[in-house]
Amino acid sequence: MRRSPRVILVTGGAGFIGSHVVRRFVNAYPDRHIINLDKLTYAGNLANLKDVQEKPNYHFVHADICDAQAVKEVFGRWQPEAVVHLAAESHVDRSIEAPDAFLQTNVMGTATLMNVALEFWRGHFEGRLFYHISTDEVYGSLGNSGYFHEESPYDPQSPYSASKAASDHLVRAYGNTYGLPYIISNCSNNYGPYQFPEKLIPLCIHNLTQRKPLPVYGTGENVRDWLYVEDHARAIELLLEKGQEGQTYLIGGRNEWRNLDLVRKLCRLYDALNPFGHKDSETLITFVKDRPGHDVRYAINPSKVEKELGWRPSVHMEEGLRRTLQWYLDNEAWLNAVVSGAYREYYSRMYERR
Ligand code: NAD
Ligand code: TYD
Repeated sequence: MRRSPRVILVTGGAGFIGSHVVRRFVNAYPDRHIINLDKLTYAGNLANLKDVQEKPNYHFVHADICDAQAVKEVFGRWQPEAVVHLAAESHVDRSIEAPDAFLQTNVMGTATLMNVALEFWRGHFEGRLFYHISTDEVYGSLGNSGYFHEESPYDPQSPYSASKAASDHLVRAYGNTYGLPYIISNCSNNYGPYQFPEKLIPLCIHNLTQRKPLPVYGTGENVRDWLYVEDHARAIELLLEKGQEGQTYLIGGRNEWRNLDLVRKLCRLYDALNPFGHKDSETLITFVKDRPGHDVRYAINPSKVEKELGWRPSVHMEEGLRRTLQWYLDNEAWLNAVVSGAYREYYSRMYERR
């Protein structure tokens, strides 16, 4: 079956991954309406969508997914046939510092969205889809071997991953109990343009330009499986169109890096670009106190999405990192705007008093 929803509600479309998804949909489907519902937290930024904001099929709604009335108004006005749900609190370190917002948005917000979807869709489930975007972190930590797959047991270790795990369970429960048509995908670490510089790669790029220390947690042995964000957005588009209802799909780049190797690689690419005559960037690498409960390794076996949808990552890490670096260098104004004000306070709390 091929779905082609005429109205798609994207939540969290002003964030990092959401903005790539919204841009992709707005450009690919001029005859469909793309509604971006976003609260514009510190991580939401309408500047991420400047290039599509004037398109007639793009519509922005400033609202909180926990606000049932606001969500009902959007459903009433636009009658979306699909929800692509990305809105979330997404940063592990912030969840350790202050978990409440994670429980509120990731758990209660997801339930609120589904309650409203049920209210509007019940009895008319045909052609409707609630697509929940989640993370591989719900599976906890791997040792040196093995991979996460669709049947891996849930074992979340941080307040962030526990809140995402709770939302995954709720989505399945709503499918099972009320017949809500859903898909869940759990993806590995994304990187690319428009990522807020609290996450490892953009934080290091920003610090490289400022010649500030590059903070590596613990000994830098932890491993993540990295995927270029546009490859994730393409997988989301494919799953929205052709994914099987009631199924879970794991998405990953088959691209594992130890944090220390990744930061070194970034340094070498940065020095090769040599934007301001900077060199010897590796000397900026600084080992700092580890994150509590730091998951050792994430790695995904994406065979299911590869076989069922023919999806493959298309951007190699070297190319993706180079593009990402170049984007941040070319978009100094974007970076300067997001690191002003509240970010400085965050950075000082997280790193200068570490
Ligand atoms: P992000 O933090 O960059 O963006 C989140 C967006 O959600 C922001 O625009 C924010 O304003 C919005 N938002 C937050 N709370 C909201 C609320 N209550 N109501 C409405 N909008 C709200 O996050 P991201 O990295 O783009 O991640 C998007 C989704 O993908 C999340 O669900 C995350 O768990 C998942 N994910 C992320 C990664 C990754 O590497 N970044 C990997 C796998 C899965
Ligand atoms: P992050 O980008 O926060 O993603 P996640 O925690 O969701 O995987 O971190 C990626 C890895 O980099 C993770 O192992 C923690 C580590 N890290 C650092 O070493 N230094 C940093 O300043 C940050 C933000 C992360």
